[in-house]
Amino acid sequence: MSRYVIQGGRPLNGTVTISGAKNAAVAILPAALLVDGVCRIEHVPDISDVRIMLDILRGLGALARREEDGTVVIDATNVRDASPDPALVEQMRASYYLMGVLLGRFGRAHVALPGGCNFASRPIDQHIKGFAALGAEVEETEEYVQMHPGPSGLHGNRISLDVVSVGATVNIMIAASRIPGQTIIENAAKEPHIVDLANFLNTMGARISGAGTDTVKIWGVQSLRGNTYAIIPDQIEAGTYLAAVAATGGNVLVKNVIPKHMSCITSKLAEMGAEILNYDDAIRIRCGARLHHATVKTRVYPGFPTDMQAQICVCMVLASGVSRLTESVYETRFFGYVSELERMGADVQITGKTAIITGVEALAGATVDAHDLRAGAALVIAGLAAQGSTIVKDCHYIERGYERLVEKFRGLGADIRRIEG
Ligand code: UD1
Repeated sequence: MSRYVIQGGRPLNGTVTISGAKNAAVAILPAALLVDGVCRIEHVPDISDVRIMLDILRGLGALARREEDGTVVIDATNVRDASPDPALVEQMRASYYLMGVLLGRFGRAHVALPGGCNFASRPIDQHIKGFAALGAEVEETEEYVQMHPGPSGLHGNRISLDVVSVGATVNIMIAASRIPGQTIIENAAKEPHIVDLANFLNTMGARISGAGTDTVKIWGVQSLRGNTYAIIPDQIEAGTYLAAVAATGGNVLVKNVIPKHMSCITSKLAEMGAEILNYDDAIRIRCGARLHHATVKTRVYPGFPTDMQAQICVCMVLASGVSRLTESVYETRFFGYVSELERMGADVQITGKTAIITGVEALAGATVDAHDLRAGAALVIAGLAAQGSTIVKDCHYIERGYERLVEKFRGLGADIRRIEG
């Protein structure tokens, strides 16, 4: 098991460049299977979730190669198989997008249930509801989902989601883009990567409108053609570096961001005392004095993202006074990291969906375990801010979603190294 070793207590200074968005990449790469011809997808982060997804696509018969500048070229012309390798599918969460992709392309699919970060129960009933509304006959077991056209064939439909789900919105959009007729998704999720996926599909010839609002309309087309597309910057990676500077202090220019996507995070950090300067595609953060306490409730976009819960928690742990952090998307998410932060000296009481955090003057280095991607990133921030040495075990979780994290933090002056095995 690899680990990060961090000598904390150094402020961060310099410039960091944000990579392409993980959650957009893991939707757009499989969606390239809907396209006849070659897709060139730029700014694809080199992270383990993307590497697994590319292996899944190759296993189905697609040609997929990464170029040096981060562009991934996919040609899915010869894909005939609608059953991706279960051993790979089970290694990541977003492999459930193969269900929508294969249904859209072949009208059938046999996909194992996804794995990935298990910080909460993560049902897929809304995905299944969507596929059934599109005319699929769906068989769901404890191991896989299998689909083929029902008696009336596949067709567009109106689907109202019972919960606002990123995954279900993406999966239905993907399938419906190649299924005849008009599909309307009501109560759709609005995250930036949903808009990015719609822009990708439209660039390839799809007809999707309303992405980024709660009603998305899709007119199914017969075919999509190859083209070039650039993925947006990663909102959560950028938020993680901003939170790291807020927690450790320093002065950092975070480049390649869309400031509008960041405002739910930067407004909170500013409220806590960080100085934030927005530019066209960069944000400068300066932080010298101790942060103030705050109240944060995670919400779907444009609210404060659940994927930043653990990182802002570290800022609150070090802030003066008592902060309140409420999780409204995944109730059990605190359990992935709070006990680890307590080992470093944090004072966090969890009551139901809310963590009551009494700020401490400093954290002390300790050996801690990364139980999932964002929990692991938060422990890295805690280690950077702490006095003494911190070891973050199981760092492979972090590498699912952060490209060259060690290198980027070292570029900001952090003392962090990766120890193999
Ligand atoms: C996506 C993100 C993940 C982020 C999450 C919430 C990707 C690849 N992952 O995950 O990083 O933490 O959004 O912003 O983009 N739900 C159901 N039934 C369903 C689907 C979801 O009840 O069929 C519930 C979930 O339990 C959760 C809520 O809806 O409480 C939101 O989940 P969802 O938006 O679907 O998350 P993911 O797409 O899995």
